[in-house]
Amino acid sequence: AAVNLEEILTFGTGLARTVGSVILDAFKQPKNIQHKMGCADLVTETDQQVEEMIIKAIKETYPSHKFIGEESVAGGLKCNLTDDPTWIVDPIDGTTNFVHRYPYVAVCLGFCVNKTVKLGIVYNVPNDEMFTAIRGQGAFSNGKKLAVSSESDLSKSLIMAEFGSARDPATVETVLKNMSSVVLNPVHSIHCMGSAALNICAVASAQAEAYYEFGIHCWDYCAASIILEEAGGVTIDTEGGPMDLMARRIVAACNLTIAEGLRKKLVPIHFPRD
Ligand code: IPD
Repeated sequence: AAVNLEEILTFGTGLARTVGSVILDAFKQPKNIQHKMGCADLVTETDQQVEEMIIKAIKETYPSHKFIGEESVAGGLKCNLTDDPTWIVDPIDGTTNFVHRYPYVAVCLGFCVNKTVKLGIVYNVPNDEMFTAIRGQGAFSNGKKLAVSSESDLSKSLIMAEFGSARDPATVETVLKNMSSVVLNPVHSIHCMGSAALNICAVASAQAEAYYEFGIHCWDYCAASIILEEAGGVTIDTEGGPMDLMARRIVAACNLTIAEGLRKKLVPIHFPRD
């Protein structure tokens, strides 16, 4: 069946708002926190509940579509991106923020066909900010068109980055080494918002010039990547060339000059592919 992206966007934004109200209700309540791959890789019952709601709703409306979801993969399902229409879902990007009531928590719905991201929805729940993009049609935040920063000097840039969730000393050392070589470039500052998707949306909104991270997963950057591209920005692989959705790493920037300048400062950190 032909895919109608406008219709999918209407459905997806409605779904993001529906689960957003569940997230908002749970946001202020005590949380039942579990750990996944390590002491800093958190999951709550809300992540799992919201992912189930999302998958159930998509299955009812689009029975032929496939999914990759953060909590389903954590539960043992394989991360298998095919040419079929596929939703890549992060029920709560910024789970650590959610646990601590730090108000940067997003529902991420990415939609791919032929392994290409065609549509992205990132809903910042506490701020009620809906970022959307359809390939070729621009990017929007609550309906307002987005455009990236025009800065091309890395030393005048604000960079978004994260500590990530790995806590083995060798990885942490390289994360800190990368932050140090970026800040000494110099740059104006490095900020950590605690959500890969919202970091990328900040670049799409001209609130920052770039973001990079190693160790993220496809659901953390799928939806946001098209929002940035449609706002006029670029997403590249940390090795150079186009972004690889399954490579668990990205440099996202307002333009290629900033992206390449930043990329060259980074020592790669290797994670198994999604
Ligand atoms: C995490 C956030 C965080 C990033 C981690 C991600 P989650 O996603 O995007 O900013 O540093 O690498 O795992 O677990 O909250 O969906």
